[in-house]
Amino acid sequence: MHNTIVAPSLLSANFAHLEKDIEMINNSQADWLHVDVMDGVFVPNISFGTPIMESLKKSCKKLIDVHLMIVQPERYITLFKDAGAHLLNVHYEASTHLHRTIQQIKAEGMKAAVTINPHTPVAVLEDIICDVDMVLLMSVNPGFGGQKFIENTYKKVTQLKSLIEKNNTETIIQVDGGVNLETGKKLVELGANALVAGNFVFSSPNPTDTIAQLKAL
Ligand code: DX5
Ligand code: ZN
Repeated sequence: MHNTIVAPSLLSANFAHLEKDIEMINNSQADWLHVDVMDGVFVPNISFGTPIMESLKKSCKKLIDVHLMIVQPERYITLFKDAGAHLLNVHYEASTHLHRTIQQIKAEGMKAAVTINPHTPVAVLEDIICDVDMVLLMSVNPGFGGQKFIENTYKKVTQLKSLIEKNNTETIIQVDGGVNLETGKKLVELGANALVAGNFVFSSPNPTDTIAQLKAL
């Protein structure tokens, strides 16, 4: 029996009624709230930053999983900690000194994760896998919600799972982009432990129920 972590993505929420969506997530089976921060430089889109998180942190009862799609993420570790992040996720492609950045995130008392883009091979994680609590595999090119799942991700889940087993670590495998019941089921079967879902949850007629269905995968 799997116990899949479900992390609805705030990016697809209704920003004019954020409190309503947070309440829905609080009352759902969601484990985490996935928060996508984009700077318009690392990715071709700008989302939101810490002021939004400051207002969320009072009302959100779930663990806050922050996905930084920004250049030089090492400059903002304390800022995100103070804004309520429990888990801080930096991109491999944006981190020249990834090892140091991971240690700094942990020193702030947060869980540390690294994300890789669709074109980045799992093999580059070989010398960091023992230091991170989670690896996020992007299954779309980061920047936008509602994109089509890239099928090559399935292979990467299998490769990551064997890297984790080889190193005997407890690293969580998270997948983000184009997750629905169909892609999610296959991902979980292959070894994914955490699913991010934006569009699939928020555009469904009953988001609470959709979260429960993902949770049951
Ligand atoms: C994409 C973001 C995702 C996005 C997922 O850059 O990292 O978290 O919100 O959205 P869906 O589930 O709609 O693909
Ligand atoms: Zn994300």
